[in-house]
Amino acid sequence: MPQKHVVAKAADITPGHKLVAKVGNRDIAVFNVDGEFYGLANTCPHEGGPLCEGFITGIALSAGPNDYRIERKGEFIRCPWHGWEFDIRTGQSWCDPKSVRARQFNVRVAHGDELVQGPYVAETLKVEKDGDYLVIEL
Ligand code: FES
Repeated sequence: MPQKHVVAKAADITPGHKLVAKVGNRDIAVFNVDGEFYGLANTCPHEGGPLCEGFITGIALSAGPNDYRIERKGEFIRCPWHGWEFDIRTGQSWCDPKSVRARQFNVRVAHGDELVQGPYVAETLKVEKDGDYLVIEL
């Protein structure tokens, strides 16, 4: 049976931001992309860098020389080691989406009323009846 891990209060991660949480023995980053929450392993599939400590960004697209635009702002994470970019929503690599992917974790929003009934694992966070929390099930 999967264990519920409460990683943060939902209000603690505002749109365009992230938080890296220790869940069991894993580091998992939780992102808020336009009010929706996504989880990615903080380990880059390229060479194991701390993927989610990089910049949240968009994608530069070009129709030709002297033309570029940034689209999908806030939907990609750029690994700080070698700059590979991954879609936060899917974990897919931008440069090789068919074969390279960061590991994803489901993030669910749960109200404190539900969580205080347990069972859950909350290594670092006190859960109270009021408020919404972010939960990862492993
Ligand atoms: S380790 Fe992340 S891009 Fe190389």
